[in-house]
Amino acid sequence: MRLFMLLIFNTSQWELRKLFFSLTLCRTGARLNLAFAGFFAFLHWLVRLKQPRMLNSVVRRMSTSVRHFPIRQDVPNLSDMRMSYNLTSLDEKDLDPDPIAQFNKWFEQALQSDVHEPNAVTLSTASKDGRPSSRMVLLKSVSEKGFSFFTNYESRKGKQLAENPFASLCFFWGPMQRSVRIEGRVDRLSSEESDAYFRSRPRGSQIGAWTSHQSQPIQSRQELENAEAELEAKFHEKEIPRPPHWGGFLLSPDYIEFWQGRVSRLHDRLVYIREEESQDAEKASDPALKCDTPPPSLSIGGERTEPQSEVTGDATIVTPEHHAHHKQHVVPRSGKWIIKRLSP
Ligand SMILES: Cc1cc2nc3c(=O)[nH]c(=O)nc-3n(C[C@H](O)[C@H](O)[C@H](O)COP(=O)(O)O)c2cc1C
Repeated sequence: MRLFMLLIFNTSQWELRKLFFSLTLCRTGARLNLAFAGFFAFLHWLVRLKQPRMLNSVVRRMSTSVRHFPIRQDVPNLSDMRMSYNLTSLDEKDLDPDPIAQFNKWFEQALQSDVHEPNAVTLSTASKDGRPSSRMVLLKSVSEKGFSFFTNYESRKGKQLAENPFASLCFFWGPMQRSVRIEGRVDRLSSEESDAYFRSRPRGSQIGAWTSHQSQPIQSRQELENAEAELEAKFHEKEIPRPPHWGGFLLSPDYIEFWQGRVSRLHDRLVYIREEESQDAEKASDPALKCDTPPPSLSIGGERTEPQSEVTGDATIVTPEHHAHHKQHVVPRSGKWIIKRLSP
């Protein structure tokens, strides 16, 4: 203890002081304390040896984690981490015949639960040669036409959508044990729609859209802040127009899946498929009408080796690979929705 007090008051680093102090409070035994004291004395000595920048950042990070995250004695193995889903179920009779109405119903419930940012969604796109990439975006509107989000058209996702217009959205609403997957074709919103949304954004975000050459490498944070300051001066007390490289996309869905977690991993998966899509899918699974694409091979408990298509229950979901072979059926943007239950 005495050694600790000595260190606390000897060190010139405020963050280090805080760390020593918290360790003194939550000590588990004299030996452990001695080991910690030795370790931090060593750190302290290094700080004095002109390595302050690196060590300061390490210490700051360590003390930030002490402040923000609970200290766990028993960090579990990832392989042991699992939750049991038992909140509720999803039955065919619960579903609205219109998937957008069903989405709105679940979204309302997500808003009322303690889901953090329920409109945050993973957007997956793929390059023209099929290499996928995913990132989060914020869903900004939902209508019978589809789901829209806003971004930089010259970003990685923007470029991928220009060369391959198919994408998917995946929501996970943990506290509700629910997920929604949406797939379809993506097109730019009209410039009027993008302008209208851009005008509604806070001024700082408007400047941000001009400042950021999204997805491009930059030298430093400072470069970004300098650009922001320049643009603030340029647009001072003026209305900020929408940058031509920034705007909205609309995903017109042909597949919407509602997933409700259930016990023993026997989850409920109910999916709406555009009727044309489903007929095309039946063609794709019919050996007589089959295209050259090899069938998907799945290995139980292992990796999916050929992710060309997904076969679940009695529905084969057609993917871009198949789309390329059946161009006449590519984009079912109208038509009835049919509902299928998929095996979890
Ligand atoms: C919760 C959350 C919401 C985000 N929303 C958006 C968004 O609406 N539009 C956007 O361009 N980037 C958004 N981002 C940043 C993106 O995830 C991503 O970093 C950025 O769009 C660049 O992606 P890209 O290089 O694949 O194009 C969001 C990030 C998070 C974590």
